[in-house]
Amino acid sequence: MTLVVPTRSEYAAVAGRVRSDQPVGERACVPTMGALHAGHIQLVKEARKVVGESGEVVVTIFVNPTQFGAHEDLASYPRPLSEDIARCTEAGVDLVFAPLVEEMYPWGATLDSMTSIHPGPVGEILEAVDRPDHFAGMLTVVAKLLNITQPHHAFFGEKDYQQLALVKNMVRDLNMPVKVHGIATVRDSDGVALSSRNAYLSTAEREVARSIPRALTAAQKEVGTVAQKLAAAQALLSDEIELIYLEAMTSELSDRLNPAAIADSGRILFAGRVGATRLIDNCDLNSKGSA
Ligand code: PAJ
Repeated sequence: MTLVVPTRSEYAAVAGRVRSDQPVGERACVPTMGALHAGHIQLVKEARKVVGESGEVVVTIFVNPTQFGAHEDLASYPRPLSEDIARCTEAGVDLVFAPLVEEMYPWGATLDSMTSIHPGPVGEILEAVDRPDHFAGMLTVVAKLLNITQPHHAFFGEKDYQQLALVKNMVRDLNMPVKVHGIATVRDSDGVALSSRNAYLSTAEREVARSIPRALTAAQKEVGTVAQKLAAAQALLSDEIELIYLEAMTSELSDRLNPAAIADSGRILFAGRVGATRLIDNCDLNSKGSA
């Protein structure tokens, strides 16, 4: 049975003792905003593999207001809490921490009224161009959730590759005592990366979205320079996608790759709008790597 707790004090009272009267094993945390799908559940499975049966797997479910921009979908973001809890139970999650906004932000849910995390240079590129405060809000809530849940291991998806890179940087730069694990993107049978926001796509838009994984795979397979790989991807992207960026970067996102170079490591990152829905995806530049 999965235990669900909404407050920090209740969490502190039960954490480490869900599986036994005595604290045993290591703890893993999977932070989420809910509306759980097979991508989230994959993180749970990987978490269980790492901590084992004697360890404790905690999922946090919190739609974090401070990482949404003023014109983004905070109000309409799906919040199917009882289905999420059922999925967690089915996946063998020990503990769900699902706080209210007031529990996380008792002094108001704006970064202006509190101490927050400055993301550093990797937080100023790619996604941050359109969403300038997103990463400060995301890192601040991740720091809070890790401090509350106190895990040995934390799991994040490569689907949100810049987020994963920033969390790794934060943990390294602030000496946070947790090991960050990045997990390969889980895709639907048509190649589209699973995302809670895919629910916003019409049937016709979904067809358009299929060109994104095709484009990334074409870039991986193209033998040649970074510029040729990007051109191969661009050629397969549907004309109906409003491209926001398509970039080739080092794996840590510290630099753009030289377009004239033959690179066998690094990442290609995409963002674009399909209708009103903003989608992101990325792949390892090397075709032997994960998509
Ligand atoms: P959310 O979008 O709910 O995603 C939670 C975690 O699931 C993230 O680490 C994300 O990268 C991972 N994930 C999403 N889709 C995936 C897929 N198709 N395959 C593999 N992993 C996938 O990301 C957030 O929430 C928030 O920003 C959060 C980190 C919880 C902070 O609020």
